[in-house]
Amino acid sequence: MPLQAPALQSLALKGKTVLIRVDFNVPRDSAGGISDDTRIRAALPTLRAVQEAGGKVVCLMHLGRPKGQVVEDLRVSVIGERLSELLAAPVTSLAESTGDSVREVIAAAAPDSVLLLENVRFHAGETKGDGDLSKEYAKLGDLFVNDAFGASHRAHSSVSGIAEYLPSAAGLLLNKEVKAFGKVLNDPARPFVAILGGAKVSDKLTVIENLIDKVDVLLVGGGMAYTFLAAQGHSVGNSLVETEQIDLCKAALAKAEAKGVRLVLPLDHVTADRFAADAQTAVCDVDIPDGVMALDIGPKSQALYAAEVEAAKTVVWNGPMGVFEMEAFRAGTAAVGHALGRCSGYTVVGGGDSVAAIGLLGLEASVDHISTGGGASLELLEGKKLPGIAALGQVS
Ligand code: 3PG
Repeated sequence: MPLQAPALQSLALKGKTVLIRVDFNVPRDSAGGISDDTRIRAALPTLRAVQEAGGKVVCLMHLGRPKGQVVEDLRVSVIGERLSELLAAPVTSLAESTGDSVREVIAAAAPDSVLLLENVRFHAGETKGDGDLSKEYAKLGDLFVNDAFGASHRAHSSVSGIAEYLPSAAGLLLNKEVKAFGKVLNDPARPFVAILGGAKVSDKLTVIENLIDKVDVLLVGGGMAYTFLAAQGHSVGNSLVETEQIDLCKAALAKAEAKGVRLVLPLDHVTADRFAADAQTAVCDVDIPDGVMALDIGPKSQALYAAEVEAAKTVVWNGPMGVFEMEAFRAGTAAVGHALGRCSGYTVVGGGDSVAAIGLLGLEASVDHISTGGGASLELLEGKKLPGIAALGQVS
């Protein structure tokens, strides 16, 4: 899936008003402050590049899921303040994202200004991909740049819609993300190892299906592993099992075998008598006794998974190996994370939880690419085309 979209450098930016769709949908703390500004920092190179090329920067963003209503806590001004600190330059946050008054403010702003429009999801049409709304946004600028990788799986008015009305290109972050996933999915150095975890196997079966066609080894951990073990006839105690997915797990195991892909399941587990940080824990082999639930991969599996990851030439990781938020069930995710840090091959991490785990372990600098997209990176791994990328470059 090479990036078909035009690069930012293909646009004549000088003297133009450039609408930039960013993904500043950042986590917030209980007081409404920003608890992680990674996504804002990740878009700075694009904003600076547009400014340096003489373009006026107008950012569009969403925050949360306000469902077409104005929600005071989801106004963008708090993001505008942080953006201003990071750019060390003033940022004007507007209380609207369409209309004549917005157009007037943009027109009156100095050529090197940075403006941030109000949360686009306050419009009911935004998440429906309403074309009239896209046209309204398009009236506010001359050019459109999509740098919102994390939102590019959404066919929304400000993501894919604006590109139908303005000349458009991919921002530097979007380009970097797609290149990283493209390298892994289209041209992996081998052995290529994928690590998939997370609670629900139903969320990951399409990814598993697609990756079996590409990888040499698929390491499965997290809650999703227990449905696979149940499919193999193992006892799983009180562990999380999606019974209705058992047949699909059997089919995935058969496909992996037919393709010569090693789909590896945990050999042992860390169990708990209940789902709690202070639960009574134990270690058991592959069959999980009645009355307990597995909440992490066990020591033998940790060593095996770590060895596979370390020896790989390409690794992609999505989803934790256990309930890593609780210290008692963190060792599996930590073992995989540290092995990824030691791996000399090309390493990519996507998905909110595994990215959080890399942060918790302080391994950011040892990973080649940490994706800013959760759902978007998952859809790329599923082999899907993202509407926010496919839409670019239609208008010249
Ligand atoms: C994300 O946080 O993954 C993106 O910003 C997309 O948000 P959404 O899932 O609300 O569309």
